[in-house]
Amino acid sequence: MDHRKIQQMKNEIQFICNDREITTAVHPATTVLDFLRKSMRLTGTKEGCREGDCGACTVLVGELNNEIILYKPVNSCLLPLASLHGKHLVTIEGINQIELNPLQHAFVDEGASQCGFCTPGFLVSLTGYFLTNDIYSAEEAINSLDGNICRCTGYASIKRSVEKVTNEIKLNKNYSTLEKFVELKVLPGYFLTIPERLAAIKLLINQHASGVFISGGTDLFVQQWEKLLSSDVQFLQRDASTPTIRIEGESCFIDSQTTISEIKSSGILQKYFPQLENYFQYFGSLPIRNRATAGGNIINASPIGDMTNFLLALNAQLHLKEKDKGRVVPLKNFYTGYKQLDKKENEILDSVSFNLPQNIFHFNFEKVSKRTFLDIASVNTSIYLEEENLTIKEIHLSAGGVAPCPLYLFKTREFLLGKTISPQLVKESAEIIQTEISPISDARGSAEYKRLLLRQLFFAHFIKLFPKIISLEEVV
Ligand SMILES: Cc1cc2nc3c(=O)[nH]c(=O)nc-3n(C[C@H](O)[C@H](O)[C@H](O)COP(=O)(O)OP(=O)(O)OC[C@H]3O[C@@H](n4cnc5c(N)ncnc54)[C@H](O)[C@@H]3O)c2cc1C
Ligand code: FES
Ligand code: FES
Repeated sequence: MDHRKIQQMKNEIQFICNDREITTAVHPATTVLDFLRKSMRLTGTKEGCREGDCGACTVLVGELNNEIILYKPVNSCLLPLASLHGKHLVTIEGINQIELNPLQHAFVDEGASQCGFCTPGFLVSLTGYFLTNDIYSAEEAINSLDGNICRCTGYASIKRSVEKVTNEIKLNKNYSTLEKFVELKVLPGYFLTIPERLAAIKLLINQHASGVFISGGTDLFVQQWEKLLSSDVQFLQRDASTPTIRIEGESCFIDSQTTISEIKSSGILQKYFPQLENYFQYFGSLPIRNRATAGGNIINASPIGDMTNFLLALNAQLHLKEKDKGRVVPLKNFYTGYKQLDKKENEILDSVSFNLPQNIFHFNFEKVSKRTFLDIASVNTSIYLEEENLTIKEIHLSAGGVAPCPLYLFKTREFLLGKTISPQLVKESAEIIQTEISPISDARGSAEYKRLLLRQLFFAHFIKLFPKIISLEEVV
C-alpha cells in the first residue's frame, strides 16, 4: 500500500445517493446511517442496534470497477461517510418505484412484513443478492440474509417470499445484467445512468494525513463512533482494480485492506484451503464480511479474532510501514499482552504474507460461539500440519479466547515436532496445551468451560484430519 491510498477527507465528499448527486463537508467519520436519517431525512433505513447485529440499517454500496458497478450490502451504522466518496449509495427509497417491485410483491403476498421495521433491510439485502450473483438459488438467497433479524414473523413467511421471487427471477434468461433488472422492474431506470455519473467523480488524495486509522470500521464504529467525530481520521483505502491477494515467489501476500468476503471467495486461497468458505461462513454476517478487513482483525488484537487465528497457524509475517520505512514481524511475536502490540503509533499494517506449502499438508479451523450466526467465538483454533508416514515434520497451532491475546501454541508445537501421530500423542499434547493457556470467565463462558472447549476442538482437528488413526472414543 502506498501513501496515495491514505485519504483524509477534510475536503468535500462526493457520491451519488440513489438518483441524487451529493457533495458534503460533514465530518468524514459521520455514520452513513446518521447522514441518511438526520441530514437527508431518508428514514426508510432504520436504526436498530447500531452495532452491526440487526441489519435494519442495511444499504447497498456500488463501486465502479472497469466500467461495471459491483454492489455490496453493508451496515450503514458502521459505515463512515468518507468511504462513500466516488460510490453509489442505494437505500430502500432508491429501489422504490410507483408500484411495488417483484421482491416487495413477494413480501406482501406471503405476509413477510408485520411491524415492518426490519423489512427495508431485508429488501435491500435481497436486492444485493440478485445484483451480486449470476446464478440464483433460494437457499443461497436465504443465506445472504444472514445479517438481517426479524422479531415478528418467525422467518417462515420471509423464506417463502424469497423462494417465490428467486424462482420467478430464475426463469428469465440473461437476468444478471443491470438492464435486465430494470426491465424486470426490480430496479428503477436511473440505475443505468450511474456508471457514467460515478466515473465523473474525481478521487480525493491527501498525502499528509494523520489521526486514527480506519479500515472497514466494523470494530471502531461499534466502540467509539462518537469519539471519532471529534478526532482526526485517516481512511485506509485501496484501488479497487489492484489484486488484493497475490503470489510472489513461494509466498502469498494478502493486502491488509482485503475484506473477509474477498478472502473467503479467493480462488488463490481456495486452491490451498478447499474448506475456506466454511471456515469464514460464520464470521459476522455478509454485510460485516463485506467491510471487515484482515488488517483490522489483526490490529484490533481481539483474542478471538478469526482471521488472526487462521493466519497464526500459517505462521504468517506482518509487513509494517511508516512513511518509507518498512519492517517485517512474525505474527506469532506481534502480541505482547492484552491489546498490546509490537507496533509504533504511526505504523500501518501494509500486508500479511505466508509461505506457500511446498509439501503435502493438513489444515483445519474450528470455532465455537454461543450462537451459530452473527457471533464471535468463545474459543477458536487452527492447525497446520505436515507429516511423512505420520511423523510430524512441521506443525503450527493457534488458539483464541483462552489468553489475553491471540495465541500461537509454542510449547505444544515443540512437543509434537518429530513425533508419530497416535491417540496417546494427541491426549498428551492436549495436556501441554492446558499449560500454555490462561482463560478467564466472561460472557462467553467460564474459564473451565473454555479449557474444556479448546481440548475438545484440538481433538476435533485430529479426528477430522486423521479419521483412520484418531477416533473420538480413543481420545475422549
Ligand atoms: C456484528 C459484528 C460481528 C463480528 N463478527 C466477527 C467474527 O465472527 N469474527 C471476528 O474475528 N471478528 C468479528 N467482528 C469484529 C470485526 O468485524 C473484525 O475484527 C474486523 O476484521 C475488523 O476489521 P475492520 O477493517 O473493520 O477494522 P477497523 O474497525 O477499521 O479497525 C480496527 C482497528 O485496527 C486499526 N487498523 C485497521 N487497519 C489497520 C492497518 N492497516 N494498519 C494499522 N492499523 C489498522 C484501527 O485503527 C483500529 O484500531 C464482528 C464485528 C461486528 C460488528
Ligand atoms: S442498526 Fe442494527 S445493524 Fe445497523
Ligand atoms: S416484521 Fe417486525 S421485525 Fe420483522
